Amino acid sequence: MPALYNLARTRVLPNNVAIIGVDQANGTADGWATHLHKMLESFVGNANSEFNIDAIDEGLWQGLAGRMSYLQGDITKPEIYQSLSTALSNVCKQYNTRGNVIFYLAVQDRFFGDVVDQIGQAGLADQQEDEDGVPHRWRRVVIEKPFGHDLASAQALNVRILRTLQEDQVFRIDHFLGKETVQNIMAFRFANGLFEPIWNRDRIDHIQITAAETVGVEGRGKFYEATGALRDMVPNHVFSLLAMVAMEPPATFDAAGIRNRKAEVFAAMPPLRPQAAVRGQYGGGDVLGKHTVPYRNEPDVSRDSNIETYVALRVEIDNWRWAGVPFYLRTGKHMAERLTEIAIRFRPAPLSPFATTSVEALRPNWLIIRIQPDEGIALQFDIKRPGPSVQLATVQMAFSYADWFPREPNIGYETLLHDVMVGDATLFNRADMVEAAWRVVQPVLDSWAQDGSGLAPYASGTAGPDAADRLLEQDGGRAWRDIPQQRFVHSNGKNHQ
Ligand code: BG6
Repeated sequence: MPALYNLARTRVLPNNVAIIGVDQANGTADGWATHLHKMLESFVGNANSEFNIDAIDEGLWQGLAGRMSYLQGDITKPEIYQSLSTALSNVCKQYNTRGNVIFYLAVQDRFFGDVVDQIGQAGLADQQEDEDGVPHRWRRVVIEKPFGHDLASAQALNVRILRTLQEDQVFRIDHFLGKETVQNIMAFRFANGLFEPIWNRDRIDHIQITAAETVGVEGRGKFYEATGALRDMVPNHVFSLLAMVAMEPPATFDAAGIRNRKAEVFAAMPPLRPQAAVRGQYGGGDVLGKHTVPYRNEPDVSRDSNIETYVALRVEIDNWRWAGVPFYLRTGKHMAERLTEIAIRFRPAPLSPFATTSVEALRPNWLIIRIQPDEGIALQFDIKRPGPSVQLATVQMAFSYADWFPREPNIGYETLLHDVMVGDATLFNRADMVEAAWRVVQPVLDSWAQDGSGLAPYASGTAGPDAADRLLEQDGGRAWRDIPQQRFVHSNGKNHQ
C-alpha cells in the first residue's frame, strides 16, 4: 500500500485502477481502508524507514481508498473466485480497467499453487490477444517469496503454476531488486568505461556481500522456524546482489538479455560444499542500546531450535571472469548495525615504492557499493599523510546519493509494481533462475537437515559468530569488513550519518 500510495503521489498510477482485497477475515472496504491508513500513519516522520513521509496527503489517500473494495472468502475454495470474477467485471465497467488484472499473491507460500490453480479454473487467467499475439486484456500474477523451500519444491511449484500461466504472466518478486542502489549497479558497471576493464579475476582479490539486520524475527517466529536465514535471504536477495555484480554485460538491456546473463551466473556456480557454510543463532544481548532476548525465547520458537538466524557462505563462480575469486556472503538478524553492502577488494600493489613501508603494510583498495542505509559508492585507497616523513593513510572518495539527489520516500516496491503494470519482467526472477539458485544452496540445506550440530551462537548486537571469521581466515588470512562500520566521509570531510 505505501508503494501504491507513492505511485499515486508521483502520478504514475493511472486513474483507471481499482484495488480488490481478498481475505478470510470478515471485513469491509471501510475497515480495510482504516487499517491501511493507520499503517501509513506509522510512516509519518519515521526516520528509520525508507518511506519516511512528512504527512499523509489525505485527498490522495481518499482517492485511493474510494477505489478499494473487499471480498471475504477462503482462497482455497472455488466460490471466492466466482465472487472475484463478478467484482472484476464490475470494476472493469466502473473504472474502465479494460479487463487487465494483476493478482498479487501476498499469501503464505503454501497457497501459491492452490491459488493459481483456482484462478485458472475460474477462467481468470485467460488473456485475449490480438492477431500478433500481443495481449490486450492481460492477466499477470505476482508471487512473493519464498518461491519453494528447496530445489524440489521450487521445481514442483514452477511446473504447477506453468500449467495455468505462461512464463511471461508470472512475476516472481524479490524486493531487493526494487532498491535504487541495486538497480544502479548495472548503470555503474556498464555506463562507465573505467570499471569494467578491472572487474575480473586479474584485478579483484575477493568480494564480500553483507546483508546485516538489527531486527530480530519480529513476531515471525512460526515463519522463521520453517525457514531460517539461508532460505529467507540467500537464494533470493543476496544472490540477486551477487548476480548484478557478477553478470556479463548483456547484449540487449531488456528482460531477456539481462535475465539470460544473470541465469548464466547461477549456472556457473557449483553447488555449495557444506564446509563452505557457517550458521549461527542469536543469543541475548543489546542491539542499538536495547536489550533483546535469545532467538530460542522468541514467541513461536522452539526452546531447542536449531534454526539459523545468521549464515555466512563462500561461493565460487566457475567462469573466465571469476575463476579463483571467492564471493563471501553473510546475512544475519540482531547484528550490531543495519548494513547492506557489496565490497570489492582489489589485489594489492605488487611492490612498495617506499623503503620505509613493506609491501605487506600497503592496504588494498576497496570499492564499496552501499545498498542501505546511506546509499552510495566509495573507493578506498592509500595516500601520503602530510608531513616530512613518508607515512601512508587510508582515505575514501565517496559518493553519497543524499548529496546529489533529493531524498524521495521509496520502499522499492514502486518500481516493481509499475513494471508489472507495464509488463516489464527485467527485475523479476524467471523459473530457471529460481531453480538454479536453489540448486546452489541445496547441499547445505541437506547437510543441515541431517546434522543438527555446528550451529554457532552469537550475542545479539555483534558482527555474528567467530566461526564466520575462520571461514575467511583459512583462505589466506582474509577478514570480514567491520560491523558496525565507519561512516562514509563526505567530500567536505564531515562524517555522513
Ligand atoms: C524479507 C525477509 O524478504 O527481507 C526478512 O523475509 C528481511 O526476514 C527482509 O528482514 C529484509 O528486507 P529489507 O528491505 O528490510 O532489507
